[in-house]
Amino acid sequence: MLQGKFVVLGVTGSIAAYKAVELVRLLKKKGANVQVVMTRSATEFVTPLTFQVLSGNPVITDMFEKPVRWEVEHVSLADKADLFVVAPATANIIAKMAAGIADDMLTASILATRAKVLVVPAMNVHMYCNPITQENISYLKEKGFSVMEPEEGFLACGYLGKGRFPEPDKIMEVIERLVGNSNDLKNKRILITAGPTREPIDPVRFISNRSSGKMGYALAEAAVERGGEVILISGPTCLPQPAGLFKYIAVETAQDMKEQVLKFFPWSDVVIKAAAVADYKPKCYSERKIKKKDSEMVLELTKNPDILKELGEKKDKQLLVGFAAETDEIKENALEKLRQKNLDLIVVNDVTAEGAGFEVDTNIVKIIYKDGSMEELPKMTKKDLAHVILDRIVQILRS
Ligand code: PMT
Repeated sequence: MLQGKFVVLGVTGSIAAYKAVELVRLLKKKGANVQVVMTRSATEFVTPLTFQVLSGNPVITDMFEKPVRWEVEHVSLADKADLFVVAPATANIIAKMAAGIADDMLTASILATRAKVLVVPAMNVHMYCNPITQENISYLKEKGFSVMEPEEGFLACGYLGKGRFPEPDKIMEVIERLVGNSNDLKNKRILITAGPTREPIDPVRFISNRSSGKMGYALAEAAVERGGEVILISGPTCLPQPAGLFKYIAVETAQDMKEQVLKFFPWSDVVIKAAAVADYKPKCYSERKIKKKDSEMVLELTKNPDILKELGEKKDKQLLVGFAAETDEIKENALEKLRQKNLDLIVVNDVTAEGAGFEVDTNIVKIIYKDGSMEELPKMTKKDLAHVILDRIVQILRS
């Protein structure tokens, strides 16, 4: 998949720089032409010679060193690249990228490139969790950069926590997706729902649930990365709008979501319903704030439309994917939903399991197919899971 692809690997000043050496070996093994660019501090951890020998190319460390051929080197690198990978990426380079600073060869090339950029952070847990770093990462994602989640574990600085450089073979999986498969959803129209719905009680109160939108947004980002034309219909979340969408539609209630989903259903080839739609809403909406009384209060609820069930009844050419948030009898409940709603596959998460379901960055799911077969997946980030789900969708589309 990487045969003949030009990958620029930016290595920055982290102890994990030594692991980037293995990344070069794996990239070369897959046939990529690798150009390593090191920041000055990266050279304090690993010598350029190591990367030069493994990549088979002279390593660039200085913006003003004499070029081998006459070309404006940072622009030529930026133009030639099929992919930039910044691994390991320190908090410093992330901040510089987010600010558009171009004061060395690596940052100047990244600013000048139109290629995809993958950022692989590795740093001390407190630096990673610092709100400034987190904001910079969110900003980069908003602007279309792919950012991998660091792993949790013992860090070189002695702390235990998030910040470890992921294993090079995991990084390779992401690289292959970004470069190799990047177009397997080209010409496919994908409608994704995400987040919760809010069912108003009065002007200040509503019924909702704990969905953060992370699962649905990860699916939207991944589908865009693979060349899909993506409409994201989202309930209220705090997440930045993913870059590269065909359309983003913000909704509040289940009824709003239903109207938008039905409007774009005929347009779509694939529908993925990751949203946590409220099953019930207050029977009556009070135009005025309901006053507190001494007695108990009873709120009467009425059923919301089941959007996915309606899609299953209307289904024509579309591939329909549902999610099921379960707490018990996981497989039985999910299978029943798959059949009732006429789905092609359903992704079921046990929302009581640690590291799964609402709000967290990871998920643990089972995928159940139309024929009743089930695939059990290990805990993984929602972004990685999004790609696995899209892999399965692509397989069904091709079959
Ligand atoms: O958003 P996050 O914090 O990342 O959390 C992710 C998640 C837990 C919300 C997600 O992984 C998930 O499980 N989403 C589906 C939640 C849900 O509503 O499950 P359900 O079993 O109640 O519904 C089954 C399916 O029918 C879902 O695809 C749902 O979108 C759809 N549905 C449900 C009710 C309804 N009235 N209309 C619907 O279309």
